[in-house]
Amino acid sequence: MEEKILILDFGSQYTQLIARRVRELNIYCEIFPYNKAPKNIENFKGLILSGSPFSVHDVEAPSVNLEEFKNIPILGICYGAQMVAKISGCDVLKSEIREYGRAKLNYVNNSSLILDGVKSNSDVWMSHGDSIKNKKDVLEVIASTDDVEVASYYIKKLNFYGLQFHPEVTHSAEGKKILENFTVKICGCNKKWTPDKFVEQTVRELKEKLGKERVILGLSGGVDSSVAAFLIHRAIGKNLFCVFVDNGLLRKNEFQDVLDSYRNFGLNVVGTNSKEIFYSDLKGKIDPEDKRKSIGKNFIKIFEEEANKIGDIKWLAQGTIYPDVIESISVKGPSATIKSHHNVGGLPEVMNLKVIEPLNLLFKDEVRKVGKSLDIPNSILDRHPFPGPGLGIRILGEVDEKKVKLLQEADDIFISSLRDKNLYNDVWQAATILLPVKSVGVMGDERTYEYTVVLRAVTSLDGMTADWCRLPDKFLAEVSNKIINRVRGINRVVYDISSKPPATIEWE
Ligand code: XMP
Repeated sequence: MEEKILILDFGSQYTQLIARRVRELNIYCEIFPYNKAPKNIENFKGLILSGSPFSVHDVEAPSVNLEEFKNIPILGICYGAQMVAKISGCDVLKSEIREYGRAKLNYVNNSSLILDGVKSNSDVWMSHGDSIKNKKDVLEVIASTDDVEVASYYIKKLNFYGLQFHPEVTHSAEGKKILENFTVKICGCNKKWTPDKFVEQTVRELKEKLGKERVILGLSGGVDSSVAAFLIHRAIGKNLFCVFVDNGLLRKNEFQDVLDSYRNFGLNVVGTNSKEIFYSDLKGKIDPEDKRKSIGKNFIKIFEEEANKIGDIKWLAQGTIYPDVIESISVKGPSATIKSHHNVGGLPEVMNLKVIEPLNLLFKDEVRKVGKSLDIPNSILDRHPFPGPGLGIRILGEVDEKKVKLLQEADDIFISSLRDKNLYNDVWQAATILLPVKSVGVMGDERTYEYTVVLRAVTSLDGMTADWCRLPDKFLAEVSNKIINRVRGINRVVYDISSKPPATIEWE
């Protein structure tokens, strides 16, 4: 059976990062909310307790019953370490000041397995308001800093290791080694969970589950739906039917290019020409959420029509990835901040289909690795994320075909210039936005009165937070010149220098 590590989430902002670090070690792990731990603990080789925004002194401080996990080694990080220290009878004191940032270990007990090979002056990342007070008959201190005596401890009878600092954050120089010591040396995991292994195992499971039944999948041209399609195609071949809807809101030439490349790979793809339906329903709509709903509704309608044409469909496949899943079951509950239409919610209910989501335990970078293992070309795997409602939410206010064409031209210049200058992969997402603003310009001897576009390029890990890219000004000047000279109807280009938060990546 597959070896895996369980992570219980107490609401820390770093929980996903812990999972990523463990998986980078080629060890499989799963996150569960602290109050919804799985029943079959014997299937896990070890447990990690995350940090938390709570203090152990809070009335509602979350907790777990350690008895349930008594047969496996446990690692507690920050809150996880404080909670177990308190349960075990130590005092956890409120610090006068919150300790936040880099600290240096000044004592390390290398004979403790978890700190094997960790240097005694190693940098660690602290972020806590409470401190554990040493109690000799309860715990064994195995690392300290100048300010924190109990930077790491061990409780033998619980097989428990506590860390006051965060090994998952890259500022903890030997954090990865510590996580490796825990998972490999203490829990005994072997590092065999690789993308190839994932593909092999998932294809086998999909074959068993889907048999000869028909599956439908909506392609968007993006990474997640493409990888899901290739994976399912490898398992069931022609019984996978992909639908790629041309909503008239894609990038320039994107519909045809993407359709051709899928077909070249032998995928069964139907392309629909549905532009007019989308444009006519968007007429008169200016509110962003109204526009999203209109686009989502028509997508479902067309998708359903195509499914009926194919007939006898039993399954709907979706490219849902792990962060979407965690978001919806997290300690904090489904996030209220997600804009509608993120994953065309509602489709399975409307169509009465069983749902299959083969990527729902993978992070984005893992999806890309699986894509590589499936030989999907880089031109698909390296694509920037693109929102479902497409240019519909990058044309501020009312959308019409003329504006779409204008924006497509400007956007094509921006994106191909990023590729030409080898900047495309330095940017997490790039977008061109058409403002409903006309301004005065001068071209030759003529006065112009035309539209403005915004160039937006951001760096990010997962789109939750983002910073604007410091693109070279020479590059921006060239793109601006090209757009203004070549796209009639645009006489001004501006660059968006807002980070998220407080701004968002998209303008609508
Ligand atoms: P925001 O604008 O919320 O965007 O900072 C974060 C990420 O989500 C994408 N996005 C969407 N994706 N449907 C989607 O499929 C949507 O309605 C939608 N709105 C935003 C956005 O492109 C960025 O990557």
